[in-house]
Amino acid sequence: MASLNVSLDERSYPIYIESGLLSNNSPLPKHINSKRVCIVTNTVVAPLYLEALKQQLSDFIVDEIILADGEAQKSLANFEKIMEHMLANTHGRDSTLIALGGGVIGDITGFAAACYQRGIDFIQIPTTLLSQVDSSVGGKTAVNHPLGKNMIGAFYQPKAVLIDIDSLFTLPVREFNAGMAEVIKYGILGDKEFFDWLSNNKAAIKAKDKVVLAEMIQRCCQNKADIVSQDEKESGVRALLNLGHTFGHAIEAEQGYGVWLHGEAVATGMVQAAQLAEHLNYISSAETQQIIDLIVYFDLPIKAPASMTFDDFIKHMARDKKNLGGKLRLIIPTAIGKSEMFDNITHEQLHHVI
Ligand code: NAD
Ligand code: GLY
Repeated sequence: MASLNVSLDERSYPIYIESGLLSNNSPLPKHINSKRVCIVTNTVVAPLYLEALKQQLSDFIVDEIILADGEAQKSLANFEKIMEHMLANTHGRDSTLIALGGGVIGDITGFAAACYQRGIDFIQIPTTLLSQVDSSVGGKTAVNHPLGKNMIGAFYQPKAVLIDIDSLFTLPVREFNAGMAEVIKYGILGDKEFFDWLSNNKAAIKAKDKVVLAEMIQRCCQNKADIVSQDEKESGVRALLNLGHTFGHAIEAEQGYGVWLHGEAVATGMVQAAQLAEHLNYISSAETQQIIDLIVYFDLPIKAPASMTFDDFIKHMARDKKNLGGKLRLIIPTAIGKSEMFDNITHEQLHHVI
């Protein structure tokens, strides 16, 4: 079984990646330091994987919370529902929360774990590609507020991350492709060799070859673990993980969350960032085309909705969490495999890509 480590002193934790992890003897029990656990999942994932997970937990007293599906469920109302359930069922500080699902379940469960009795253990079992390569690693936890996505949350690391590659076989293809945007992101922002590997293995990835998928997820998690280990709370290098996200968040917010999937918006945002890099003479048009080709191969969009104006973009980009002192900060690839944060991009330069 492949395993890697997120190195954060006493908050370090392993990431396990394996096909069949949920149905075979998993390393899960040894990472639970309590008698009682509470699994948080949703109505889509529960029928698929909840029973298999419970079978791994026969030595524990297992409780469960099943939320409805969708981004709208990452809410303060559901956060309160989890708190109420934990209190009503007399969970103590020594209970463990387990997130079984995609990024929505991972984010809200992590935030609940950070807050319940000032912090209890939690474990991530991500079941979407996006959550396996990104959201389950690194400790960003949050719920949404009507006035902004992920605006209420905490940095709170899990005790372990268990990735069962087999869960990708029940994932709708559109969700798989959206996850591929975040996969491609690692190649563009900091790992040229990985970008080339993705280009060479794209057919096997699309065909869901398990060996190739395992290597791909491992390389993404290694990239993320390295970055998070250097900069847990995003005061530096971690911001590079937002490549494509400033443009992408503007598309998501303007269209209404859920109309474009997060990964779809990030894919278009990465193309816009690459086109800006080309306009600034950092990358060639051939490199922009290489990026576009890989994104298009996974049926991801490369153009913002025609209805979105320049002002629509600027309105949302001005609210980006990376901005400092009112200045827009953008991540731009300065080569395939290298990126930097810029805070001096003018509206005139942005006009070229919006
Ligand atoms: P999601 O959790 O909504 O999952 C997508 C869909 O797939 C849902 O309908 C879900 O029920 C379903 N699903 C999950 N696993 C399945 C499986 N194995 N088979 C079939 N269906 C399955 O969305 P997501 O893309 O996983 O995550 C998006 C969320 O992650 C957003 O809220 C975003 O803000 C957050 N996010 C967080 C971070 C972070 O660092 N914490 C990073 C990126 C994104
Ligand atoms: N998904 C970006 C981060 O974890 O920092």
